[in-house]
Amino acid sequence: MDWILAPLAGYALGSIPFGLLLTRMAGTQDLRSIGSGNIGATNVLRTGNKKLAAATLLLDLAKGLAAVLIAAALWPAYTWAAALGAFAGHCFPLWLRFKGGKGVATTAGIAFGYAWPIGLAYAVAWIGLLALVRISSVAGMCAAVIAPLVALALGQNEAAMVLGVIALVVLFQHRANIARLIAGTEPRVGSKK
Ligand code: G3P
Repeated sequence: MDWILAPLAGYALGSIPFGLLLTRMAGTQDLRSIGSGNIGATNVLRTGNKKLAAATLLLDLAKGLAAVLIAAALWPAYTWAAALGAFAGHCFPLWLRFKGGKGVATTAGIAFGYAWPIGLAYAVAWIGLLALVRISSVAGMCAAVIAPLVALALGQNEAAMVLGVIALVVLFQHRANIARLIAGTEPRVGSKK
């Protein structure tokens, strides 16, 4: 039964929409009707509440990390399925009619869950680029693409496969951001748009 338990547990964890839940509890306007409409930390930041944005980031990361660590302990042969399940749960949650987030924070947790050096490389790329270009989508997409390459260089083949698949979906989830980047209208972090 491991083959079904691992992805289901991952999906269940990943599909908890922390950004939406936290902003709802704080009485903020529905996240999906402001900014990019995304349920992630960047859009929570656009509500002006930095603490909620930080909490969303950490909790979205924690669910990816937890999925990998739990699966590695209980169903080690299916860690990959739990990791992909958590990512799929975040991006395509049943509870939100499969319209979820873009997966950047959850992927950071998955990277850390596989091996801390992969997570560290992801975090350095993500935070470094964010500081440099101040465009969240650019930082997130680059970190997602770098992670499988780092995993491959470290000989972490399963992580490289999982993170490679995830990177492709992260790019797909950012298609509206990519269109805005091409049009020159993608907002920088700190702008309310
Ligand atoms: O993690 C999501 C980020 O990469 C982009 O968010 O709200 O600017 O589309 P947003």
